[in-house]
Amino acid sequence: MASGGEVVNNKQVILKQFVNGNPRESDMVVKTSSISLKVESGSNPIVVKKLVCLNQEKVMASGGEVMKNKQVILKHFIDGAAKESDMVVKTSSISLNVEPGSNAVVVKNLYLSCDPYIASRMKKFEHPDFSSFKPGSPLEGFGVAKVVDSGNPGFKKGDLVWGTVGWEEYSVIENTEKLFKIHHTDVPLSYYTGILGMPGITAWAGFYEVAAPKKGEYVFVSAAAGAVGQLVGQFAKLMGCYVVGSAGSKEKVEILKNKLGFDDAFNYKEENDLDAALKRCFPEGIDIYFDNVGGKMLDAVLLNMRLKGRIAVCGMISQYNLSQHEGVHNLMNTLIKRIRMEGFVVFDYFPQYSKFLEVVLPLIREGKIVYLEDITEGLENAPAALVGLFSGRNIGKQVVLVARE
Ligand SMILES: NC(=O)c1ccc[n+]([C@@H]2O[C@H](COP(=O)([O-])OP(=O)(O)OC[C@H]3O[C@@H](n4cnc5c(N)ncnc54)[C@H](OP(=O)(O)O)[C@@H]3O)[C@@H](O)[C@H]2O)c1
Repeated sequence: MASGGEVVNNKQVILKQFVNGNPRESDMVVKTSSISLKVESGSNPIVVKKLVCLNQEKVMASGGEVMKNKQVILKHFIDGAAKESDMVVKTSSISLNVEPGSNAVVVKNLYLSCDPYIASRMKKFEHPDFSSFKPGSPLEGFGVAKVVDSGNPGFKKGDLVWGTVGWEEYSVIENTEKLFKIHHTDVPLSYYTGILGMPGITAWAGFYEVAAPKKGEYVFVSAAAGAVGQLVGQFAKLMGCYVVGSAGSKEKVEILKNKLGFDDAFNYKEENDLDAALKRCFPEGIDIYFDNVGGKMLDAVLLNMRLKGRIAVCGMISQYNLSQHEGVHNLMNTLIKRIRMEGFVVFDYFPQYSKFLEVVLPLIREGKIVYLEDITEGLENAPAALVGLFSGRNIGKQVVLVARE
């Protein structure tokens, strides 16, 4: 403090000399002088301290901090396959502060999970368990996020969570019952979109509970190089089964055999006769089929099932974009061979999440499972990543990196 009031250092950009032509950095110099923050008596200028926001996206509003919020918006309901042009990336703004009295949390989204069902929710339909997205609103899906404000006693600022979030940079989540807190951070956070999240529970519940495997059985997995399939195949190997996977490219087939430990694999796009391909890989037949694709593959598998075989119906991606679903012709085999064919939905197994973690976390930590992720950077690339699931662009779990912690 000087007698004239508070004196502070004042960094300044000084013009060194007049420029002739384009200004260069060397025409200026940054110097530090000092300045009194008290106005001289008798004069009337206002001394301002200029606050430069490092993050230009941030502004202060009377209701708290407001941020720009990039979002992937559904433009209109779709009919058939989703296209990138059915979505648009827009920027709106969002208050990072929970409304007083609200039970909601505000989260910063870090990773989003691209799942085939998201494209299905872009269609107009009515269902008791699922709802269509609303045109003009952001898509939703599973994601990993960090709590930035909370009106809910169960969550505090800084908590890491996974669960349903918007396809946007920040989300307000009213329904916090659908959020899981992340307690184990010695594994990559993105894993909570896959092996430690919804697809992981799908693979675990579908294989161990629905397919009820026994050591030494013959297991076939379709879409085997994807999020769910890669895990099912490895669970089956750990169980001591013989495992074959199908996938849509040479590269994926190599990965299945050489990286993920499948006993055999084939590229279904190169096989003219799926029945013959299955007979080649399973001369003694199939005990368990983990079905991710439905359609022609399911029909061919039915011809190759063994007595008392099980078909865990996880998904039918080959049918999702068709206006008329293909028929299945070989169902008679379920009768003759006493096959149990059972569909399941992962949400029924969410209450067993902690039991699932006890099994799968050690497998990751002990290196007993290989987990492949396909990470696309940037929310603006999320529409392409989603659409890519239907052409098999992804190898492993398709994730979108929105922001680093
Ligand atoms: N029951 C449940 O609760 C539940 C939960 C999660 C997922 N699922 C279902 O499980 C399946 C796998 O999901 P995911 O998340 O693991 O996806 P994913 O396998 O990571 O990605 C989808 C894969 O499906 C394959 N595919 C796309 N169109 C196909 C077609 N017409 N015929 C055959 N294969 C096709 C592609 O691989 P290729 O290169 O091999 O063609 C693509 O990479 C999906 O059917 C999904 O809907 C069900």
